[in-house]
Amino acid sequence: MKLPSKVKLVDVGPRDGLQNEKQPVPAEVKIGLVHRLQDAGLKEIEVTSFVSPKWVPQMADNAEVMAGIQRKPGVRYSVLTPNLKGFEAAIESKPDEIVVFGAASEAFSQRNINCSIAESIERFAPVVEAARAKGIYVRGAISTVVGCPYEGDIAPERVELVARLMKQIGVQHVGVADTIGVGTPAKVQRAMEAALKHYELDDVSGHFHDTYGQALSNTLACLEMGVWQYDTSVAGLGGCPYAKGATGNVATEDVVYMLHGLGMDTGVDLDQLVDIGRWICAVLQREPSSKVNRAITAKKARK
Ligand code: HMG
Ligand code: MG
Repeated sequence: MKLPSKVKLVDVGPRDGLQNEKQPVPAEVKIGLVHRLQDAGLKEIEVTSFVSPKWVPQMADNAEVMAGIQRKPGVRYSVLTPNLKGFEAAIESKPDEIVVFGAASEAFSQRNINCSIAESIERFAPVVEAARAKGIYVRGAISTVVGCPYEGDIAPERVELVARLMKQIGVQHVGVADTIGVGTPAKVQRAMEAALKHYELDDVSGHFHDTYGQALSNTLACLEMGVWQYDTSVAGLGGCPYAKGATGNVATEDVVYMLHGLGMDTGVDLDQLVDIGRWICAVLQREPSSKVNRAITAKKARK
């Protein structure tokens, strides 16, 4: 099996993982989660989003969370910014990277960010320009690359179109996101190939939700294509408020365990990560969905 020589994981737990929680999660818990993740060796953390608090109340404490983080050298902190208003609020908190997020499905774009795909690109363009002028790296997320909760199957050509439009406005990296976790390896590979028509291998990442239990297989399928950057979420937390029924991202524990088993270095301490997953799930009063987390916890309990 041919695998990339390195791998980068972005833990999106504090943002994607928590955004869909119905009960308010205190800012200090979110800050504590970021601190624990960086202590466990994560070098990239997606912290929060500067979106409308009416749409996503859980992220209303974005500035407080960003301000509360004691930054660790070598760690990069990203935030979501859907428009100029969000970007202007975000820059105060000095993110290393911002994320504009669009979709390959028109219906999902409307439900998630209240505009068409074409309008979203118009909104992103000044955000990208302003960020790059300030030397802030710009990532784009393309949601619903395989399937949409409102439109059903999504053709790779739709992914290619959004990747092309994002490239044209200067987005530096695109994340290929299976928002509702319906993808299977060949489908996800086709979506990734569509993004690769406009982006280099070094400038794409995978963001796979695990609703149908395929996210780890989809990660391996993309690793085999040479894709080396992935979004993961500690304990498998997460979901999108505008994709009902979709579960969390692939668990960071599961991906780290697989990568270590493949002989790849992640720089992440798996035991520490398992403890973090248990800690945040205890706060949220649930079990981690990560199988690796459950297995390692059970093994520790037997000792
Ligand atoms: P809108 O209503 O079209 O915006 O929302 P608007 O420009 O018409 O403004 C309406 C009101 O919102 C105004 O306030 C604005 O000030 C305010 P009012 O005058 O009524 O009091 N507003 C804002 N407030 C705070 N921050 C802002 C902001 N913008 C406007 N940035 C908007 C457009 C995008 C803001 C809205 O639709 C929104 O917030 N959507 C939330 C989207 C979201 O967070 N979704 C989840 C994250 S994406 C995701 O999870 C997918 C991903 O993980 C990849 C995958 O898995 O697919 C990334
Ligand atoms: Mg997501």
